[in-house]
Amino acid sequence: MGIFSLERAHESYTQYARLSERELSLMRRSYSTLGRANKNIRYKIGYPRKLDRMKDITDLNAMITDGIAELAVEEFPSLKTRDPAAAGSADLGRVQESLKHFLQDWSKEGAAERTRIFAPILDFRARLFLAEREVDAAAGYDTTANELSFFMTLPLRFLLFPKTTTTPIEHILCPYAHRFSHQRTNDSLFRGISFPDVAPRLRPTFRLVEEGFTKLKAHHPTKMMHMYMDRYNYVVTLFFIDTSLDLLSTLNHIHTLLRPGGTWINLGPLLWTGGAQAKVELSLEEVLQAVEEGKEYGNRRAGGRRHCSRLYQVSRAKSALG
Ligand SMILES: C[S@@+](CC[C@H](N)C(=O)[O-])C[C@H]1O[C@@H](n2cnc3c(N)ncnc32)[C@H](O)[C@@H]1O
Repeated sequence: MGIFSLERAHESYTQYARLSERELSLMRRSYSTLGRANKNIRYKIGYPRKLDRMKDITDLNAMITDGIAELAVEEFPSLKTRDPAAAGSADLGRVQESLKHFLQDWSKEGAAERTRIFAPILDFRARLFLAEREVDAAAGYDTTANELSFFMTLPLRFLLFPKTTTTPIEHILCPYAHRFSHQRTNDSLFRGISFPDVAPRLRPTFRLVEEGFTKLKAHHPTKMMHMYMDRYNYVVTLFFIDTSLDLLSTLNHIHTLLRPGGTWINLGPLLWTGGAQAKVELSLEEVLQAVEEGKEYGNRRAGGRRHCSRLYQVSRAKSALG
């Protein structure tokens, strides 16, 4: 069973409340070993009350995680038979990390951060459309989203499915409560966020592909008459390429997904810290060299036809790449 698999992710969301309770018990036990010294200070701070509050917060968050797990069973009936191996491998940390994306990607509070990330990409894309006089086409997007980890896509499904998310700002979650570090006050630690700011839906022009990027295919392989029409005008990679253990295959795959003259837009760091040793850990200069080589490879694969693609390396003001 893969670490990002459906079974493991489902089990982890199912067990969120239980694993959170266990974590809280450890915190209570650790607190109880404090000596009798500083009794007054301890009384004043009221740390046990903070832990009680934490329990209420995780109960609240569990309404979301239970909803995510229940929907997963509805959408993937194979999950009705629980895998004992998955039960033993539930990962609370990954659930806590994934829940933060409701804040970052789907709340009003996350809007400023989103703008910093997405605005440069959308600006580039808009300028390219203008340059290519394809303004009409810009009126609507046809988009394929790709994500390997079911820890990420099960919460997204919770938003996409009309039964679990009917309207904007329908849900509440306290995503900061999972880490007591770097908090000015307990109120800020336990503050809730409402989400989603919009209720997204799958539709013919918005697809979700839940598998490894290099397995992603162009979207209408059999319906198009022209040999390249099934490919993408744009591939956007966001905080992604440094997760690859085989960057050169990833770059080559980007070329094969793009139409001739298509554009790859990339934003994100080169933080080579995956769980395993990557085949190459390149500098930006080396990535750009590899992209040039990839174009030639793309040419050969296209049977000698002209098949150029362009890379736009988009930087945020404070990104690691400057
Ligand atoms: C650093 S996160 C960035 C997430 C998101 N793009 C953002 O900016 O918040 C990288 C994401 O890529 C996903 N990922 C890693 N390897 C992948 C692969 N081979 N195919 C598809 N997604 C992958 C991970 O599960 C993770 O969600």
